[in-house]
Amino acid sequence: MSTGPRPDDAHALDELIAQLRALKVWAGNPSLRQMEKLSGLARSTLADALNPRRKTAPALEVFRGLLRAFSVTEDEAEPWLAAWRRVQSEPARVPAAVPRQLPAAVPGFTGRAKAFKELTALLEGGSRLAVVCGIPGVGKTALAVQWAHQVASRFPDGQLYLDLRGYSSGPPVTPDQALALAIRAFGVPGEEIPLQQDAMVGVYRSITSDKRVLVMVDNAPSAAHVRPLVPGGPGCLTVVTSRDRLAGLVARDGAHRLELGVLTPEEAPAVVISVLGAERVLREERAVDELVRLCGYLPLALRITAANLADRPHQTIAELMAELTAWRRSSRLPRTAAAVIRASISNRPEPLASESACSAHRSASCGRPASRCTRARSSNAAASLTRSSWSWLSCWTRHRKCAAGSRSPR
Ligand SMILES: Nc1ncnc2c1ncn2[C@@H]1O[C@H](COP(=O)(O)OP(=O)(O)O)[C@@H](O)[C@H]1O
Ligand SMILES: [Mg+2]
Repeated sequence: MSTGPRPDDAHALDELIAQLRALKVWAGNPSLRQMEKLSGLARSTLADALNPRRKTAPALEVFRGLLRAFSVTEDEAEPWLAAWRRVQSEPARVPAAVPRQLPAAVPGFTGRAKAFKELTALLEGGSRLAVVCGIPGVGKTALAVQWAHQVASRFPDGQLYLDLRGYSSGPPVTPDQALALAIRAFGVPGEEIPLQQDAMVGVYRSITSDKRVLVMVDNAPSAAHVRPLVPGGPGCLTVVTSRDRLAGLVARDGAHRLELGVLTPEEAPAVVISVLGAERVLREERAVDELVRLCGYLPLALRITAANLADRPHQTIAELMAELTAWRRSSRLPRTAAAVIRASISNRPEPLASESACSAHRSASCGRPASRCTRARSSNAAASLTRSSWSWLSCWTRHRKCAAGSRSPR
């Protein structure tokens, strides 16, 4: 068989089986019945040995039987037997999967040119770990996702998205859970993922070592939650978002921190336009200026206030602004929505929430039923739209355990 398939390049089981199947074709594609006669082995054994999905190499006597069935003489068998010995130490390779897990980009995303530049400079400068931190609702996730989409093509081996849920009402995702998700995303079956964290980290780093992968870790509660998820290879970049400054990651792991502030006064109106449309905004430019100022240029506050207005097409923006201002003064709330968030992070007393606040909040971003907000339930369900535009903040901060943001960095 001087010109038939050769197994010299077969180093893994799937490659050897592929070569054996090519050999079968080269040998005239004998039927199982013919192979049975030539090898002296049962048909089922022969069919099983040639199954491309098998996880272990066939036994030596079965392998020799296949060679006989494909007319390989004893003299010609040595390269095949050498390949068989090689694959004993090489497990079957898992089919490589390329994760594409980024959430959809934010519709109507606006501004952030400086932050984009900074992140791109980090990437091009060879940084492997970046932390985007800032107050709730400032747009950390939106920025990281938007930027990740922009640079995704530089990471052809995949983009992982791992939400550690560090600030939601339930417990955060543990490093073990996140590692298992990450390893699975590359096509490793669940039963082949080790249970010990050290072993999982080893598998994860082996998979990613020579790959170019972008890893986005959202809502990280601590540096300890992030470390196991950072690939070791030079081609990977990890972008973390957190309300914490994650000082430990910066100090010990060389992470670059990007502190995200609110939008600029020039950027903020575009968020309102994306919800209300340009026509309504242009009709009341001055009121919109007031709106963005009262929201403290905080993207989440802008979105929710604009969503409230979108629900009331007959109310003018100026009317809402006047009500908001009067109510804010009488309630002695901080001057802007962003200031309310900052105050609640500092564990200062929160303003009261209302039922309509939760509804407004839910419609814009939370997704939690208003009935789960106990303070909201007990308050006046007929509270005005004015109140709701502000007090969604307190409702929201309770949902998201905002006070967690004031924990000391780890
Ligand atoms: N640059 C932006 N342009 C438009 N909308 C934004 C922008 N940044 C954030 N948003 C919106 O504001 C809300 C809060 O943003 P998010 O990224 O979830 O905040 P964070 O992750 O900091 O808590 C989301 O509804 C998001 O779509
Ligand atoms: Mg977020």
